[in-house]
Amino acid sequence: MGSDTSFVSEIVVREHGEVFAGVASVVDVGGHNGTTARAIAGAFPHVRCSVLDLPRVVEAMPADGTVEFVAGDMREFIPPADAVLFKCVLHNWSDEDCVQILKRSKEAVCAREPRGKVVITEVVLSGSPSKQTLEAQLLMDLCMMVVVEGKERTEDTWQKIFLDAGFTRYKITPISGTTRSLIEVFP
Ligand SMILES: C[S@@+](CC[C@H](N)C(=O)[O-])C[C@H]1O[C@@H](n2cnc3c(N)ncnc32)[C@H](O)[C@@H]1O
Repeated sequence: MGSDTSFVSEIVVREHGEVFAGVASVVDVGGHNGTTARAIAGAFPHVRCSVLDLPRVVEAMPADGTVEFVAGDMREFIPPADAVLFKCVLHNWSDEDCVQILKRSKEAVCAREPRGKVVITEVVLSGSPSKQTLEAQLLMDLCMMVVVEGKERTEDTWQKIFLDAGFTRYKITPISGTTRSLIEVFP
């Protein structure tokens, strides 16, 4: 997971920096050791980056002044920010849990004006992937089923979750060289 996060976050800030245009604060939900948040803070020094994770995870993280760590449960509260980020988090949860977590995210990005957005880095299963992409996505799906009760999702399933959580529109951008996409979701 750590290697994947270093790899993907580097590509995201290098190739998809436009996602952070006009964003002054980011909270990486389930951001673990802050790898993604540090990559964003390094590439965009004007963006204030924080990580929300469970208390036992945050307690083990040494503070280095780059990223603020916040202890909490994303199903209950997400700190207000211009962008709420999830990387490889929502695929660990059921559709019902995702709706609940995204409702908390909507509160976080609507706490100030102008309203912000949610940025999700996950697989979006499609009908006609290449053989290599299909194999990689199926392996990820198997991992989700074995380790946790999660799953990878098609665009239709993601769309239903976003609408059920109260969002109005979304934009999907495949991340170059990976099986993942950036999904920007707007209130
Ligand atoms: C699969 S890891 C992903 C870590 C990181 N986003 C990445 O891609 O490297 C899932 C993370 O979600 C955190 N997490 C699990 N349940 C959570 C909850 N209820 N509230 C906040 N964070 C949670 C875990 O502690 C873990 O750090």
